Amino acid sequence: MLTSFFKHKLMPAITFHNIEDVLPVTNALQEGGLDVMEITFRTGIAAKAIELVRKNFPEMIVGAGTLLNSEQLAIAVQAGASFGVAPGLNEKVIGTAAEKNFPFIPGIITASELEKALTLGCRLVKIFPCNLSGGIGLIRALQSPYAHTGIQFIPMGGINLSNLHEYTALNIVLAAGGSWIASEELIGQKGFDIITENVRCSIAITR
Ligand code: 3PG
Repeated sequence: MLTSFFKHKLMPAITFHNIEDVLPVTNALQEGGLDVMEITFRTGIAAKAIELVRKNFPEMIVGAGTLLNSEQLAIAVQAGASFGVAPGLNEKVIGTAAEKNFPFIPGIITASELEKALTLGCRLVKIFPCNLSGGIGLIRALQSPYAHTGIQFIPMGGINLSNLHEYTALNIVLAAGGSWIASEELIGQKGFDIITENVRCSIAITR
């Protein structure tokens, strides 16, 4: 099911500081042609933001990001998130997600973490912080010994319009994610038209 969420190979990670930005940003993403977004639990309004999107944009697939513990995961499920993401691999959180039958994408950066994710039943992992840790070189290196397991990657951290193509051109990459489409700065400036333009450019690049 998770794999069907990323038809444009993109996952914008969005951090909201003001609840009034949630609907204009969601609208900007949709105008650009995107139907998936991750709302990070880095601010206290994340759950409320997810509920708002679910209510006003029922066709938008909303994930909850930066889920660092089982309590946050439970709140995200309650708010109506369709999937969860974390920067790291936390066995307890993966266990809670499995209990709740909640699609969950843990973060990994090493071969050992990747093996742990496989052992815990994950077939989709976030690679974070990707660009800083070797970028596509790292992904190619991990692909060699593990592609046959069926694992797929969502690289995040340092991805932008100039390097996006390198990532999404790799078969093992299901989607590339990050803040470049709707950064906190852009949202703060109410740059909703630029967000739509960023979506359009990103979709053109990954096509
Ligand atoms: C994440 O949540 O994965 C990162 O914050 C995304 O990193 P970026 O801001 O460099 O895109």
